[in-house]
Amino acid sequence: MTTLSTSIASPEAPPWPGLSGKTALITGASSGLGAHFGQMLAGKGVHVTLAARRRDRVAALCDDIAAQGGTATPLQLDVSDPASVEEALGGHAFDIVVNNAGTTVSAAALDHDAGDLDRIFDTNLKGVFHVARVTAKAMVAAGKDGSIVNVASILGTRVAGHVSAYAASKAGVIQLSRALALEWARHGIRVNTLSPGYIETDINREFFASDAAQALIRRVPQRRLGQPSDLDGPLLLLVSDLGAFMTGSEIVADGGHLVSSL
Ligand SMILES: NC(=O)c1ccc[n+]([C@@H]2O[C@H](COP(=O)([O-])OP(=O)(O)OC[C@H]3O[C@@H](n4cnc5c(N)ncnc54)[C@H](OP(=O)(O)O)[C@@H]3O)[C@@H](O)[C@H]2O)c1
Repeated sequence: MTTLSTSIASPEAPPWPGLSGKTALITGASSGLGAHFGQMLAGKGVHVTLAARRRDRVAALCDDIAAQGGTATPLQLDVSDPASVEEALGGHAFDIVVNNAGTTVSAAALDHDAGDLDRIFDTNLKGVFHVARVTAKAMVAAGKDGSIVNVASILGTRVAGHVSAYAASKAGVIQLSRALALEWARHGIRVNTLSPGYIETDINREFFASDAAQALIRRVPQRRLGQPSDLDGPLLLLVSDLGAFMTGSEIVADGGHLVSSL
């Protein structure tokens, strides 16, 4: 692991030490936050692999990144399918893994069916475990340090109506990240959680058009939805050497939503 200098950095020093030239896997990169993270990290000199089930969408994003001078590779991947994860990622020792793929269903708990539960837990929780395990195994085999960031949600800590399975899956991600951080610190692998508040993307755009959502936004202390770029600083801290002593941590970026008045 790199030890950061305490001297005053030269003005030319890169603002995010230890990032340029690194490789990163981002799951769920065909839209929303994952697509944004891919573009943002590529802009910092990271070679990004953008993974999702919709290969055409990640391929188009990689073309965009290449046109802007970055390097990006598309990868078709279903994180809920352990065989697909093993086949696509086995033996690939990335420096950075952002476990961002996620799905939800908006329905009362009484109306969640077994298929909804399987899809949500297989993607949001088991998918994170599959990808983290296979990529960490490759890092260990290569004798390489790494940073794994698992994207959870403020719904992993507090609850709201109609997202019971999603909330439970994200609570699982927060605790899984701590458990993996404990086991993998000895291998130089850091595992942290990034928990966004409400950020407008495909996963929730329909919801945010509703009156109920407008009332919800008024309860966020900052009185606004987040933008994907609001997560840049937290993610960069976790994946760069500035976060070298952070593992098993959770960073919440939510405009104060978790501390809203009860
Ligand atoms: N937006 C928010 O307000 C918010 C807040 C807190 C947490 N989050 C979390 O942030 C992450 C990204 O969400 P988002 O808002 O960007 O949603 P989004 O736009 O719907 O993106 C979800 C991504 O996950 C991918 N995905 C879904 N199932 C997959 C699977 N089985 N295998 C591989 N990829 C899969 C989708 O791609 P394909 O369909 O092409 O596979 C898509 O790229 C999720 O984990 C979400 O829970 C979002």
